[in-house]
Amino acid sequence: MLFSSFNWAATSLAVLSSLSPVTSSPAITSLETRKTPSLPLKVNTVWEFAFPSWCENLAIRANGQILVSRLDTPELYQVDPTGKIAPILIATWDASYYMGALGISETTPDVFAINIAAPVDANFVKTSGVPAIYKVDMNTFKATSAGVIEKNATVSLIANLPIADFINGMTTLDEEHVLSADVYLGRVYKVDVKTGAYSIAINDPKMKFPANAPTNLGVNGLKIKDSYLYWTNTAVGSLNKIQITSAGTPVGTSSVVTANVPRADDFIFKSDGTAFIAQNQEDELSVLLPGTSKAEVVAGSNTSTILAGVTAGKFGRLASDCERLYLTTSGGLAAPINGTVVVAGMVAYIDTAGF
Ligand SMILES: *[C@@H]1O[C@H](CO)[C@@H](O)[C@H](O)[C@H]1NC(C)=O
Ligand SMILES: *[C@@H]1O[C@H](CO)[C@@H](O)[C@H](O)[C@H]1NC(C)=O
Ligand SMILES: *[C@@H]1O[C@H](CO)[C@@H](O)[C@H](O)[C@H]1NC(C)=O
Repeated sequence: MLFSSFNWAATSLAVLSSLSPVTSSPAITSLETRKTPSLPLKVNTVWEFAFPSWCENLAIRANGQILVSRLDTPELYQVDPTGKIAPILIATWDASYYMGALGISETTPDVFAINIAAPVDANFVKTSGVPAIYKVDMNTFKATSAGVIEKNATVSLIANLPIADFINGMTTLDEEHVLSADVYLGRVYKVDVKTGAYSIAINDPKMKFPANAPTNLGVNGLKIKDSYLYWTNTAVGSLNKIQITSAGTPVGTSSVVTANVPRADDFIFKSDGTAFIAQNQEDELSVLLPGTSKAEVVAGSNTSTILAGVTAGKFGRLASDCERLYLTTSGGLAAPINGTVVVAGMVAYIDTAGF
């Protein structure tokens, strides 16, 4: 299996910091001061893929359907949030050339950019090919209610990135540009989705994996909020930020938002600023409340298959599911639970009402 040679599992990293003590003030500084929701949050299955399968990232269409990228094979699926119909294969890329599909982000209505990675070795050094960013236009896509494709999505190349090693997380800067994280080289590319022009936009020390790190994975998930670019650093186990201009140029120096999220993968903000951080190799989901600096585990555990290898999350976009956090999982392929247990990757959800 592709990932059996990877060393993502090699070393068990930091011990989670203990939860923050209850403060005298009822201010929202800790989940312990809250009555609801009760923890751990319940994890529900939307769809379990065949074993083995690494669901890596997701985007929610305006119609509520979920686009799910696979890292173990370069494929993109549409998953029905009700789980009533089987996932529909939307796009495939040449698996003899590309390793897998990763970050995906909407640019204009129902048009998505997606990171397609070239093969890398156990240290995440690219071994062949050229990573690329593709466009998946869902406006042309049509399927029956039973999930039979009537018209395909339109897939086209945006840009080859020969300067990149391993592109991972992605976010939208504006309708003509996305930011793409190079998790090995520790920098972020700005890519024009219309012209294919690209540049290194942010190259920050907090995006690098440190010397002697347990894994060579630096900047991973990316999100923009209130003129700041936020990113996780997997090796450090941190969430970081730097102010950026509307053109994506960094302003001033970066800072650490929280540093107790071991093996942080992708993350997402709820509308009030609460961050939900997926910790793939810890099989946990942590929450960082706005204005605080210590994250707390709200679901999953490193001895349970309940969130095995959780990779990323996005909130629903319908009135009926806007507080529902959809999650992708790898099944623990990078770091088997208790060293041996691996399950099928899935799309899951948790309800976050109360946060
Ligand atoms: C959609 O694309 C696939 C793969 O290229 C092809 O086999 C299929 O016939 C297409 N379906 C339609 C309805 O055009
Ligand atoms: C992992 O080990 C712990 C402790 O022995 C056990 O309670 C737990 O059920 C194991 N988990 C799995 C998924 O096997
Ligand atoms: C789970 O994490 C704890 C610390 O949070 C660590 O002490 C323990 O060794 C880990 N267990 C496994 C099975 O990885």
